[in-house]
Amino acid sequence: MDRIAIVGGAQLKGEIPISGAKNSAIKLMAASILTDEPLRLTNMPRLADTKFLGRLLEQFGIAVTESNGPDGQETLFHAREISSTFAPYDLVRQMRASFNVLGPLLARTGHAKVSLPGGCTIGARPVDLHIEALAKLGAQMEMSEGYVSALAPNGLQGTEIEFPFVSVGATEHTLLAAVMAHGTTVLKNAAREPEIGDLARCLVSMGAKIEGIDTDTLVIEGVTSLHGTTWSVIPDRIEMGSYAVAAAMAGGEVRITKARPELIQALTDKMIEAGVDIEPTADGVIVRRDPTQRLKAVNVTTEVYPGFATDLQAQFMALMTLAEGESVIHENIFENRFMHAPELGRLGAEIHVHAGEARVVGVEHLKGAPVMATDLRASISLVIAGLAAEGETTVGRVYHLDRGFERMEEKLSACGARVRRIKGDGDGR
Ligand code: EPZ
Repeated sequence: MDRIAIVGGAQLKGEIPISGAKNSAIKLMAASILTDEPLRLTNMPRLADTKFLGRLLEQFGIAVTESNGPDGQETLFHAREISSTFAPYDLVRQMRASFNVLGPLLARTGHAKVSLPGGCTIGARPVDLHIEALAKLGAQMEMSEGYVSALAPNGLQGTEIEFPFVSVGATEHTLLAAVMAHGTTVLKNAAREPEIGDLARCLVSMGAKIEGIDTDTLVIEGVTSLHGTTWSVIPDRIEMGSYAVAAAMAGGEVRITKARPELIQALTDKMIEAGVDIEPTADGVIVRRDPTQRLKAVNVTTEVYPGFATDLQAQFMALMTLAEGESVIHENIFENRFMHAPELGRLGAEIHVHAGEARVVGVEHLKGAPVMATDLRASISLVIAGLAAEGETTVGRVYHLDRGFERMEEKLSACGARVRRIKGDGDGR
């Protein structure tokens, strides 16, 4: 298994272009199930997760064709016919979000059998809200032997659904089913994450009727069929935020481009409060920091959008390990999302975790060591810490990182970071 080796101490100087968002791309890919015409996605990131979902879609009979067009990387999805509506455990367990093919399969064909995804390292992550919402849309749901079988022989029926709490996945999943239901569906307490807005706008461009996009109430008037379209995947706000933190951690000056700075304002506000110089530009930000000046510790609490994203919590924690003072980080979205804390501790960070709260006591130096990635965003936090640690840090279990960061070593190395991939066997430690 590969590892990433980072020799810390180099300031970053240069430009980092941001790729299309993983968490948008995989939702847009699922939308291809809904039409027998081609869906062309541009600004497509090439990631382990998009490859993985592509393979699952192929299993349903969908043709998936990658190419490099005038607008860069693109993929064409053509679900002329759906030949199978079965998603086996072995495929779903590798990527939880693939559970969300259930709704669109049901909307298109009236039946589907999809494995339950199971938990993961950041929390139990049940899918009860998804199942309840599809049942409210009139699907007959049956759970047995780890699978959900759903039937809607006469189509789904629009209704009002109020989510008891905000869920990105349940909102997206219900939207993907409701666009082709009979009548009107109202989704209340819906997630407002930008990737949901991207999905909704793409669906509108395919002929769906959706009002209230980017608000917490979506009104969907079902249509009988959708058509193909070309859609550009929104820039990845989590990748952007991660590189902004990386630049602040290593020091120097980095221009982040092809991005949407307004989507990470909760992060940049906190970075400015900590003492990082952030200048917004038309398509990103310039991040500057003099590494001889210590940052100030600031507190953060993760929240649903537009609050501070849970997917940026690990990266911000890495930044706070070297700040002056004590930073308190509250994790409100997932119950077990501090697995990176003991790994950062191996680099010399002082972090005390108690339930959903981490207290980070800033230290003056980190020192390189072998560490292990535990999930996708934790992996990049360890790389970020490695950029400022003295000596060499090696990050194992890099497959987590490959799920969501496109050409990470290349992008950081282009700015002068000493980051390389070591090919290898074993558990990567
Ligand atoms: C999405 O996960 C993202 N994944 C996550 O990014 C992100 O951390 C999360 O939203 C929050 O922003 C994708 O978009 C593919 P939720 P999702 O449903 O949809 C609980 C990454 O690193 N819940 O909003 O699974 C759940 O357990 C990933 O790219 C239920 O209890 O998140 C969690 O505590 C990690 N029942 C909370 O709600 C349900 O039916 C929010 O989860 C659904 C969710």
